Amino acid sequence: MSTGQTLYEEVGGKPAVKAIVENFYDRILADPNLTRFFEGKDMKRIKSHQRALVTVALGGASETYTGKMMGPAHAGLAIDSGSFDRVLQHLADALTARDVRPITVEKVLAILEALRKDIVQAQPVLGQ
Ligand code: HEM
Repeated sequence: MSTGQTLYEEVGGKPAVKAIVENFYDRILADPNLTRFFEGKDMKRIKSHQRALVTVALGGASETYTGKMMGPAHAGLAIDSGSFDRVLQHLADALTARDVRPITVEKVLAILEALRKDIVQAQPVLGQ
């Protein structure tokens, strides 16, 4: 059964998304296993990353942020599958902390899961 709502609406719309991004960002920065990926980047860039990621996760991404783009965006970062899992877990926790329903959390994770192959150990794409 579909609720007829977009995922963005399902998680609670703009104010909820803002709170989720903040919470997600705090969790990422507090995780010593993820520090190396964001070292040397300023807070603004990290937060804009978390926002971009949540936007993609909620299906609100424009054509710019498709799987096709995820390879080049993460090329050379050597993101392993375990780190990818951790980022997804932090997002799931941030959603749950905001009382998002488990079925909605699962939908969000499924969207990101589809990008794993593009992001984990992403290689630069020649000609781009
Ligand atoms: C799970 C799905 C993910 C999505 C949808 C996503 C989205 C993006 C996007 C759109 C960019 C390019 C734009 C920008 O820099 O803001 C990017 C860059 C980046 N991503 Fe991700 N990302 C994901 C997972 C990850 C993971 C798992 C890590 C690390 C463990 C990561 C670390 C980074 C870093 C370090 C950059 C470069 C940021 C910079 O240069 O400031 N991303 N990501």
